Amino acid sequence: MRLTVIGCGYVGLVTGACLAAAGHEVFCTDIEEDRINLLKAGKVPIYEEHLDEVLQRAVQEKKINYTSDAGEAIRFAEVIFICVGTPPKKTGEADLSAIDNVARKIAMEAREPKLVVEKSTVPALTGAQLQKALAAYSPDGAIKFQVASNPEFLREGTAVGDFFHPDRIVVGVEDEKSVGTLREIYRPILEKKFHCPVHAGKCPSGTSGEFLVTTISSAELIKHASNSFLALKISYANVIADICERIGADVEEVTHAMGLDPRIGAQFLQAGLGFGGFCFPKDIQAFIHLSATVGVEFDILKAAERVNKQRIDRFFEKVRKALWVIRGKRVAVLGLAFKANTDDVRFAPALDVIQRLLGEGALVRATDPQAISRTKNAYPNVSYFEDPYEALQGVDAALVCTEWAVFRNLDWEKAGRVMSRRLVIDGRNLCNPKKMQTLGFDYYSFGRS
Ligand code: UGA
Repeated sequence: MRLTVIGCGYVGLVTGACLAAAGHEVFCTDIEEDRINLLKAGKVPIYEEHLDEVLQRAVQEKKINYTSDAGEAIRFAEVIFICVGTPPKKTGEADLSAIDNVARKIAMEAREPKLVVEKSTVPALTGAQLQKALAAYSPDGAIKFQVASNPEFLREGTAVGDFFHPDRIVVGVEDEKSVGTLREIYRPILEKKFHCPVHAGKCPSGTSGEFLVTTISSAELIKHASNSFLALKISYANVIADICERIGADVEEVTHAMGLDPRIGAQFLQAGLGFGGFCFPKDIQAFIHLSATVGVEFDILKAAERVNKQRIDRFFEKVRKALWVIRGKRVAVLGLAFKANTDDVRFAPALDVIQRLLGEGALVRATDPQAISRTKNAYPNVSYFEDPYEALQGVDAALVCTEWAVFRNLDWEKAGRVMSRRLVIDGRNLCNPKKMQTLGFDYYSFGRS
């Protein structure tokens, strides 16, 4: 099937590439011409595991193309996926101006009926507004547009695997024809008829998702409700960690046992510096804003957000306790990305940590396997090192901020030899406290004695 993807950010790139790899003909467009030129030259502007190979295959099979001419892309297909950004405004409300601009463009440029699919994360009721906007911007109202919501549940770092092996594919629609079209688009995924970039040989069984048909508002809400619930779970684990510290319990022991209860589940109970990224912090704010707009107080979500913001304070209490005076100290920050396996530093806790360290007069040396180039411009006063052992050279303390495997598996004996003081404040609970103690480290983490 012919498909158009508007917006070549992380969601658009993964969606376009995976749908092309699943056999569709995909035309992608973006208002940033540099990005389109990069993509045309075969370069991938973000670090995302397996995306390179998926795109290469799609290009080789002539299934994907890029253009900065939105009109050309809009006229190419009957189905258009909107994948533009919905950043937060100062009030926490989602800024939907990019969606509005795209609606105007589609209405102006389309010459025949289209199914317009929201993939961007949007507040509930956006679908209805989009439908109105498309009708209002259509020059003579002659062309009919159908709207659907098809939220993505892709995690950065594992997005390609998530796309090909979803837990669920949610389509919020108003008419049967749109259900049929969307089912056809996802048929290769549902029937596992694609070349899997993640699993060599056969994919494990039980990994194709359920196709759920809902109303548009439900689909929009499912996305916000899912992300917010996961954020709640993380903040819950973080409060448990704080209690553990006060009473001498161990958060890993507590959350491990909790997670064995299938009603709770083991994931997203990892205590530490809290959640960052361009999804949870903004989605939680947008959901709080939406619920207030419709007259529902979402206090538990407000509390989850507050707990998350306080993680940096909790971390700095440990840093201060361990280092005493921060001014003039050489400190290594291990990890810049908001989580492992991505180069994304948007709302990354590590950047808040760096901001505070610099503010208090520390000399910061930072390392990250992928995110250095994305951080350099914003923090030119930091020294950057590809090699973690170089970052650790002569430092008074190492601060672990991202859960990269390379930091989990660091040779701390070797690290200790180059550090001027064996002190680690671990914001992601990556190291074993006993082992660190045996190696002579003064070691601090969250919720573990
Ligand atoms: C999140 C959701 O997990 C996806 O399902 C969703 O599609 C995506 O947002 C989105 O809305 O586009 P993502 O932001 O890529 O995905 O990252 P997560 O893996 O959810 O992690 C978010 C943050 O929580 C990271 O900073 C991570 O370090 C932190 N985290 C995660 C914890 O602090 N503890 C945990 O136990 C788990």
